Amino acid sequence: MPSDLKLLPMSGHTRGNRSAATCHFKCGNACAKDVCNTSGNSYFRDVVDVALSRRALLGAGAVAASAVVIGTELASAPEAAADFGGFGQGRGRLGFTAIAPVERTVDTVTVPKGYDWAPVIRWGDPLFKRTPDFDVNRQSAAAQAGQFGYNNDYLNILADRSGRAGVLVCNHEYTNEEIMFDADWAAANPDEVRRIAIAAHGFSVVEVVRKKAGAPWSYVRGGRRNRRITGSTPFRVDGPAAGSELLRTAADPSGRRVLGTLNNCAGGTTPWGTVLSGEENFNQYFQGTGSASDARYGISAGATERGWEHVDPRFSAQNPGFENEVNRFGWIVEIDPQDPTSTPVKHTALGRFKHEGANIRIARDGRVVAYSGDDERFDYVYKFISKGKYKPGNKRHNMTLLSEGDLYVARFTGDSPAAEIDGGAGVPSDGAFDGSGRWLPLVVNGRSKVPGMGVEEVLVYTRLAADQVGATKMDRPEDVEPNPVTGRLYIALTNNTGRGVGANAPVDEANPRTANRDGHVIELTERRNDAASLDFAWNILLVAGDPAKDPTTYFSGYPRGKVSPISCPDNLAFDSKGNLWISTDGQPGTIGYCDALHKVTLEGRGRGRVEQFLAVPAGAETCGPVIHDQDDSVFVAVQHPGEGGTFAEPYSLFPDFAESPDAVRRGDAYAPRPSVVQVFSTRDSGGKGKGRPKDRRKRRDVDRGRSRTGRGHGNGKDKGRG
Ligand code: FEO
Ligand code: CA
Ligand code: CA
Repeated sequence: MPSDLKLLPMSGHTRGNRSAATCHFKCGNACAKDVCNTSGNSYFRDVVDVALSRRALLGAGAVAASAVVIGTELASAPEAAADFGGFGQGRGRLGFTAIAPVERTVDTVTVPKGYDWAPVIRWGDPLFKRTPDFDVNRQSAAAQAGQFGYNNDYLNILADRSGRAGVLVCNHEYTNEEIMFDADWAAANPDEVRRIAIAAHGFSVVEVVRKKAGAPWSYVRGGRRNRRITGSTPFRVDGPAAGSELLRTAADPSGRRVLGTLNNCAGGTTPWGTVLSGEENFNQYFQGTGSASDARYGISAGATERGWEHVDPRFSAQNPGFENEVNRFGWIVEIDPQDPTSTPVKHTALGRFKHEGANIRIARDGRVVAYSGDDERFDYVYKFISKGKYKPGNKRHNMTLLSEGDLYVARFTGDSPAAEIDGGAGVPSDGAFDGSGRWLPLVVNGRSKVPGMGVEEVLVYTRLAADQVGATKMDRPEDVEPNPVTGRLYIALTNNTGRGVGANAPVDEANPRTANRDGHVIELTERRNDAASLDFAWNILLVAGDPAKDPTTYFSGYPRGKVSPISCPDNLAFDSKGNLWISTDGQPGTIGYCDALHKVTLEGRGRGRVEQFLAVPAGAETCGPVIHDQDDSVFVAVQHPGEGGTFAEPYSLFPDFAESPDAVRRGDAYAPRPSVVQVFSTRDSGGKGKGRPKDRRKRRDVDRGRSRTGRGHGNGKDKGRG
């Protein structure tokens, strides 16, 4: 564990765009390093040091088809009905008055008047009857493998037909060792820390029940469908690159069976009821060899910070036989939450990059389209179109759809003169940041469309392939989600402080702000509103920031003075009416407020209105929003509460707030715990959250008189293994 983290002050902390700890543990300091995409755009063979024939190179320009201007009219084709329950069963409407932005030191969940909140499940909660209860001072890898993992991110609540039972599905993106473990104990037990961390990654599937629609859900210990998937659970590899030489290792000569999934960030639930999730910053877990292709993926040749290569040789490409292990991460994975015995799958047909997540829309002819962003500065937006067609009700068939199809990457073209895109985000004279675009082919009909690269190479080194065809470098594409009501696609571009700086790519109409600290959101309409189209129209829905202080903000013409401040858009969701909900990751370091969940009106006179619904506790990021407006319920995954603090000096005590001896005796942890939180109407639920300790509702301020030392000594529990 790096020693600088222990010295991060609890209060008076100064933060950049994100906390130093977030950058360190979540992304492996991706933004502090050189830009991975130095392509101009460059050629695969140059990068991987393999000779490339002159003839192949000459073909590269052929894909630069001319842009096509298309209208933005929407056809009224409804999306195919989903096979699964999920939306609420009640008659709510989720009315609320926007809350004021919350100072970044406030350590609670802040919700609108008429609503209350309660955790549904917390880091360490046991999923199985035989799993020990959570004790932050008695952690073990074996216990963690049966407990809810760390840093919940993607989330869904899939209700059964009864509406009173269902499964909660959630992934666990990464670990914060500096908050999870007593520093002395961790120093004495480094390998067990690593094994615990591996077990705290992955997925949780857990059954949930409630008394009636609108009532709070609670999780079922020992539920039939409960499951933990960790950093060492077997996955099957499918698609055109399965079995490729590029995926074979000493432990898996078949190239078809991988242990674990890592850094799973956002995701999506398919119309057939499975869950997709993106393996995002996988690079940081692996020690590379210093190759140029490693550089394009941000894989360093130095020892990793987590040091997993010390407990499992596969985490270092410098160990003979494990050169390709890192190629087995960076995929979209699919999990069937209804079948705890099923083998989860890594889909190579969707390409390998820092997948934020994937979301599905069904094309007019029944093919399924998966949209996915590559979350890195100056990286791209992709879509996959299946070969086969969706068959409602035939889950077995539908689970094969992501195994074979075509892969594309987006190029955005603006319609305003370049001189009007001045980097200050002033709207051009035609009144909009907008234009047309094209999906550029990478793989079509089983053939590579990238000169000099075979299909397997395109899929394993997708970034390098996309560099060649002239894709548009974006400001960190996070969630890419189709609106289930209108079909339009929304792309969260969280920020890119390197935009237009130095030798980096300059502003363009789709990424119009120099040193884009606060991010923006693009709205994309496929031609004929058909997901299988290869042309689209686009416009910028909002340019984020604090409208009171930042004249470069833009909200589709909605009055700046009437919107909530918003920064660093990340995860997207929709309610049943088609309003967009945006969760944020980074507001404390930019506009100075706790991260939040905002509702954005998309249609009618209110288009562009941003209303803040909630704020998460100090140090946390808002993830996985799920909007069940018909039940007057909203769910969020509160990720990395207290990040920037340490085990000895916690920066948050969410959600247990076990500051008192009584609270500790109740079994609450004296540590922040990433948790899934339900926000519910006090009217529908008949009162405040049941059984919730009083102090959980208290507004605490972490900068005010909080200093804890001697953790693990004075809490009435055994100090454990320290
Ligand atoms: Fe894990 Fe791109 O956020
Ligand atoms: Ca324009
Ligand atoms: Ca994210």
